[in-house]
Amino acid sequence: RGDPRLKAISDALSVVPNFPKPGIMFQDITTLVSNHKVFKHTVDIFVDRYRDMGISVVAGVEARGFIFAPPIALAIGAKFIPLRKPGKLPGSIQMQPKSQFYQVDEIMNLCCPGEVISEAYELEYGNDCLEMHVGAVEQGERALIIDDLVATGGTLSAAIRLLEREGAEVVECACVIGLPEVKGRRLLDGKPLYVLVEPR
Ligand code: PRP
Repeated sequence: RGDPRLKAISDALSVVPNFPKPGIMFQDITTLVSNHKVFKHTVDIFVDRYRDMGISVVAGVEARGFIFAPPIALAIGAKFIPLRKPGKLPGSIQMQPKSQFYQVDEIMNLCCPGEVISEAYELEYGNDCLEMHVGAVEQGERALIIDDLVATGGTLSAAIRLLEREGAEVVECACVIGLPEVKGRRLLDGKPLYVLVEPR
């Protein structure tokens, strides 16, 4: 915790009041990633932590997990897999309303990339869901889940469920920012949770 890089990371974040709606203090990582030195510190801290943990999968959560997960995956020699919002992954044919007009042989071609599984989670108002390709991970693979921020933990919990449904072992969930809701929490659904900074 005395690492000076953590203060630099904290200082490089911006807080945008009343975005995306009144009363929300939005934690903005764009100012962090546009600072090459601090972005590198951020990736380096994760890479140092995970490089010798036998992790072969780094799963990134759409959208801002996609910024941090790929450089970590490349540096530790793991594959990157995207956990996407509904209807974005090819193969989620049941999510595409137009598919009812396709012929069966066209559907067979369209289906090629594979099946998609979904896990729903609750938001403050309503629900959302994350999706993953079936076959993206192999049985017993050790996985790390990356996102920019954890607040209630609902998004990461859905991510854990997706990976476990496909037989992966979730080693840890890691985020740049942990909001006060999770302050001091070291576990999320029984999995270790690692955050770099916790805004006051
Ligand atoms: C934000 C953030 C996390 C999630 C954390 O994403 O990037 O993914 O919320 O919240 P939770 O811990 O309460 O689940 P958002 O839902 O805003 O989606 P976006 O990245 O696509 O904008």
